[in-house]
Amino acid sequence: MSRDQKFFDMYSIVIGGLVILGLAFFIVSMKMADLTQGIYVRDGAEYQAAIYERIRPLGQVYLAGEEHASLSPTVDTPAEPEPVATAMSGPQVYNSACIACHGTGIGGAPMVGDKAQWAQRIAQGADILTQHALQGFAGATGYMPEKGGRLDLSDAEIEAAVNYMVGESR
Ligand code: HEC
Repeated sequence: MSRDQKFFDMYSIVIGGLVILGLAFFIVSMKMADLTQGIYVRDGAEYQAAIYERIRPLGQVYLAGEEHASLSPTVDTPAEPEPVATAMSGPQVYNSACIACHGTGIGGAPMVGDKAQWAQRIAQGADILTQHALQGFAGATGYMPEKGGRLDLSDAEIEAAVNYMVGESR
């Protein structure tokens, strides 16, 4: 046997072995993909829908009086939660609507926390204070706009803010 022939035999065996090995790897990897990813893909809603689309019957028979989903689709609209308008608390109202003037004393507004500025006003009673806050009030030191200019606030919210301000200032 010539050396060339020997080499060729060896070469064929090696190549053949590699081909078989490659094939084996290919089969194993296919099998593995099938057992792992394949399951997820096949279980996927899109995949399922595609299958159904391919195999569904061409025509369908509806008997008279029979309701069918595709003819009268009932769209499930989840009940929208009612926006709950929660009233703001006294401090919340104060911080959003009143602090601009009453925090700094702008325009003659009695400053919250300044007992001297509030003593006489508090002496009028809570009802008068609330009324002045609700309807607006032009006094000796300046002008208190109706609801502090926040007409979107409820009377109860203004009252809560007044109570908070008074509580902080006595
Ligand atoms: C634009 C500025 C301004 C804003 C905003 C404002 N106030 Fe006033 N407030 C005043 C001024 C000025 C006075 C003083 C009026 C006076 O006595 O001459 C006053 C007075 C008051 C008084 C005392 C009234 C009295 O009889 O002595 C209360 C209570 C009051 N404000 C509540 C509030 C509340 C509650 C808010 C927020 C919802 C608010 N204010 C927002 C300017 C403001």
